[in-house]
Amino acid sequence: MAKDTLTITDNRTGRNYEVPIEDDTVKATDLRQIKVNDDDFGLMTYDPAFMNTAACRSAITYIDGDQGILRYRGYPIEQLAERATFLEVAYLLAEGELPTRTQLDQFTETIKFHTYVHTNITKFLEGFRYDAHPMGMLLGVVGALSTFYPDAKHIHDPANRALQKVRLLAKVPTIAAFAFRHSRGLPLVFPDNDLDYIGNFVNMTFSIGGRHKPNKVLQHALEILLILHADHEQNCSTSAVRAVGSSHVDPFSAISAGIAALYGPLHGGANEAVLQMLDEIGDKQHIPKFIDEVKAGRGRLMGFGHRVYKSYDPRAKLIKKVADEVFEQTGLNPKLEIALELERIALEDEYFVKRKLYPNVDFYSGLIYQAMGYPTEYFTVLFALGRMPGWLAQWEEMLLDKDQKIARPRQIFTGHDERAFVPVEKR
Ligand code: ACO
Repeated sequence: MAKDTLTITDNRTGRNYEVPIEDDTVKATDLRQIKVNDDDFGLMTYDPAFMNTAACRSAITYIDGDQGILRYRGYPIEQLAERATFLEVAYLLAEGELPTRTQLDQFTETIKFHTYVHTNITKFLEGFRYDAHPMGMLLGVVGALSTFYPDAKHIHDPANRALQKVRLLAKVPTIAAFAFRHSRGLPLVFPDNDLDYIGNFVNMTFSIGGRHKPNKVLQHALEILLILHADHEQNCSTSAVRAVGSSHVDPFSAISAGIAALYGPLHGGANEAVLQMLDEIGDKQHIPKFIDEVKAGRGRLMGFGHRVYKSYDPRAKLIKKVADEVFEQTGLNPKLEIALELERIALEDEYFVKRKLYPNVDFYSGLIYQAMGYPTEYFTVLFALGRMPGWLAQWEEMLLDKDQKIARPRQIFTGHDERAFVPVEKR
């Protein structure tokens, strides 16, 4: 009779073990009983980069990488991108359900109430060099928020958690906009709470001498991009938020760890790296040489490939549609032509086909952000803005999960055995 268990034979001892299978998963700690003798620590699994290890149970985001499916709380990303607002998605990720009209209005008002930051934060920004990377500024300032809200350390109080989540969602656009203005040497623009979430952010970045006149298509495109980035289950930055949050530090510190992880070029920094790559290629005729270099292992085709998506990234499909709408407004970007050609060649090339490398969310997002007027080094900040609801929902889910403890992986020690200290004169 079929049984949901796994029988393991340890050929070192000839002993058999039966471990339960639940959700197509065995518990790594169930392997610890497998020992050669009583002093033995027990069997561990070795899984650098968590290639095949579920580190949590989560009800937030579902991805099927082979089928190109992405759902937040059960809702397909395509429907949310087309029909929801970013704040509706933020509410959905946090609460598990779409808000009613009253709930959405209340949530929106609460966010508006918290958009201002302490004026001392403007002094921090003054302290950054004129060419400071905006992700570095965002990471530093968000981390520093814990000093402004020491109450945030009461993470076991649900009302307190709710307040900090609102603070982060409300204040991060303000901080991000301040970082943008600082980079450009422009005076800071403070939140305008008559505007909606996206409109206020765009105004704080682009307003010059009066309220910025929004381009509806570009503003809608930004809203869609933020929705597409809002969560992506256990990616590098979310895992960072969960791992750091598992020490029960305040959410500002945990989220700043997520921002740090996102900064890297293999993660959120890829959208910036795509533009740099397109700049380096410079002209369509240099593409074949560039592709040859990549295939020879000298560099990567940035914006291609994904740990999870092995057929296509559904977000990339939606982004391409947004790109078409944006470029209709702003005109064709010469880099877009290089990107389109690069994509065409790569999708036909055996190297990429065999490895299931398809454009990911970052391949086109940078081109869109650039068309909107954001500089390359700012792209990852926009990604962080979008990812904030996901990080917060995952952080809280981790805290409420009875199975979770402080994150603390094991290691296989490969260093020296014990040896005696040698004084410096004798080395
Ligand atoms: N260009 C060229 N070759 C690639 C690329 C790429 N972009 N991505 C993977 N490969 C190759 C690898 O060299 C490897 O080849 P091999 O089997 O001959 O050694 C094979 O494809 C598998 O690659 P891995 O590195 O094992 O794949 P992994 O799942 O670890 O990496 C990652 C995923 C980091 C996204 C990778 O594809 C990459 O570096 N892409 C470029 C950076 C990028 O676009 N990142 C954004 C990811 S999406 C996001 O964070 C929002």
